[in-house]
This record gives sequence, C-alpha cells and structure tokens, in this order.
Amino acid sequence: MRKQGWNIARIFLHLRKIPRQSATRFALTCVEPAESDAHEIIGKVPKVTFQPANETFEFESGKLPYKGHGKPESVLDVAMNFGFHLEHACGGSCACTTCHVVVKDGEKNLSEMDDDEIDRVEQAADYQLRSRLGCQAIVKGDVVVNIPDWNRNYVSEGH
Ligand code: FES
Repeated sequence: MRKQGWNIARIFLHLRKIPRQSATRFALTCVEPAESDAHEIIGKVPKVTFQPANETFEFESGKLPYKGHGKPESVLDVAMNFGFHLEHACGGSCACTTCHVVVKDGEKNLSEMDDDEIDRVEQAADYQLRSRLGCQAIVKGDVVVNIPDWNRNYVSEGH
C-alpha cells in the first residue's frame, strides 16, 4: 500500500499539473503508517533479475557485504556484489543517471524514492514512470529491472 502513494505522486509530477510539495502531501495522506523497514526485511532472501541479460542474483537481507557505491543493498550494490556490470559514473552518489533502470516487476519491493532521486531520475534518457536509479533503490524483496539500451556499455560488460 505504501508504494501506491508514491506512484500517485510520480504521476502528478510527470503530468506537471501540481507542485511537487502538493503531490507529496497528497501521497503521504494515502499511505498507511510506516512500519519498521528493518523488521519487514529480516530473514528475507530477495532475488534481483537484470534484463535483458536475464541474470538473477539472490542475497540474504542485511548480510550483503557493502561494495562502497550507492546505498547498501541497492540494486547497484547487488550488481557489484555479484560481478554484474551496471554503470555508475558518479560512484553511486545520485549525481548522474548512468545507473538508470526500469522496474519491470516488484516495484513495491524497492525503497521509496527520496526527493534527490526524483530530481535526478527525471533527467535520465528514456525516463519512464517506473524508472529508478540503481544506486538509490534499496532491494527489500524480489525485483526485475531492465537496463535501458542507451545505458548498456558492452565494452565494460565484456560482450
Ligand atoms: Fe550516479 Fe546512480 S551512479 S546516480
């Protein structure tokens, strides 16, 4: 239920018919009271699937070694832990859009976007309503993400 509020906010932002603060306020009135995120994810073993490579990696929540780029247990952190290449030109500091991914499934299993991510991801080429920054989206359950064509670096991916 919490994610629906943010989806509504993103739709409003996308349409640019009301200011961001109003959209956020509206979204916050639509969500259920927050529960402890840590409590929700203990013991979970989320799977992250990267398309179009169709490679899936799973890890135990709270136990993934941090690789120093982006938020711990973010989509980028998962990719780096398993040796899967996802561009991250700014090192995961929310200052570029090279880690742009489009969520195909499991959007509710990612952390909510904060204002910094919203501002940045809207600048991504081929921005879509389900776009996220891999370095900012923390994985809390199974997700499938697609790496947009323009963001694939076949040289560094070794293809
Ligand atoms: Fe630059 Fe994610 S790596 S914004």
